[in-house]
Amino acid sequence: MEALITLLPGDGIGPEVTECTQKVLDAVATMFGHTFNCDTQRIGGAAIDATGNPLPAATIASCEAADAVFLGAVGGPKWSDPNAKVRPEQGLLGLRSVLGVFANLRPVKVYSELVGASPLRPEILEGVDLVFVRELTGGIYFGEKTRDATSASDLCTYTVDEIERIVRVAARLAAERNGRLCSIDKANVLETSRLWRNVTDRLMPSEFPDIELETLLVDAAAMHLLSRPADFDVLVTENMFGDILTDEASMLAGSLGMLPSASLGTSTVGLYEPIHGSAPDIAGKGVANPCASIASVALLLRHSLGLHAEALAVEQAIGQAIAAGARTADIAAAGEAYISTTEMTAEILRGLN
Ligand code: IPM
Ligand code: MG
Repeated sequence: MEALITLLPGDGIGPEVTECTQKVLDAVATMFGHTFNCDTQRIGGAAIDATGNPLPAATIASCEAADAVFLGAVGGPKWSDPNAKVRPEQGLLGLRSVLGVFANLRPVKVYSELVGASPLRPEILEGVDLVFVRELTGGIYFGEKTRDATSASDLCTYTVDEIERIVRVAARLAAERNGRLCSIDKANVLETSRLWRNVTDRLMPSEFPDIELETLLVDAAAMHLLSRPADFDVLVTENMFGDILTDEASMLAGSLGMLPSASLGTSTVGLYEPIHGSAPDIAGKGVANPCASIASVALLLRHSLGLHAEALAVEQAIGQAIAAGARTADIAAAGEAYISTTEMTAEILRGLN
């Protein structure tokens, strides 16, 4: 097949992991006889520096014309002054909004070889295989904001439609998996959460009677995620809770450098990103873990291009490299030798050829 893919390296370690993404896409294209035409564009701090705008029109145009978009990371200390007028993150949030990718899938897979990389005990990690479905284009991230010298506010709004569509995505996913859905809210305090719970409690039994529904308050969910992670299958939640809980969940996998994500809307065009950020502390050192990005390529192949065998091949190649002992610094045990970003990518590519 022929596909158009926009690559947005962004900031910090973004360019390094995007390079790995490009190599994997090239390898998949050669191996399976596809043509992936990649167009690299600016976003975030890199775009602010070059154009003054974190999401330039050329970037939007390229993403809108593409079959799928890959993004490395945005942000960094250079642009993080709280009084800055423009911020790298506005580029990413704007892009999610423009593409209408309201459903952010964040699978958490625990490789048995990496249980030692997690701060949790191995017996707690046994059998962990879960997916977060994070609402991505609503809530407090996108509400009206105000700030003056003495106060500030961020408005959190959700509509019934926004809640229904994300709960349906999560429930369909649960139906393909183990049939369990956990909805996370703060219904004891927030009106948006009370609406969320009402909608979920009404929709689930009528549209998905076979799915087992559990509801948790977000504070309890944060705890249960560490005390009994293997009990979860699909977890659905609003934008900010999902942001926070998925960083927490990355510790099940051992490192933020392991978690991919797929952001989907109503069409097949998707936005694929590692969930880690720009990691300014290690940027440019060649030590970033490319696994999250390469696993995001697998999601891209599966969800936007419908290339299921190819997606599986990439995931298996990551698993093989890990099983063979390849480790970047973030997943290496204390004192264990580790390899660079490009070496790790080469190890994964070997499993693809
Ligand atoms: C994420 C990130 C972003 C978010 C930032 C960079 C705006 O933390 O994708 O999880 O908060 O959504
Ligand atoms: Mg985050």
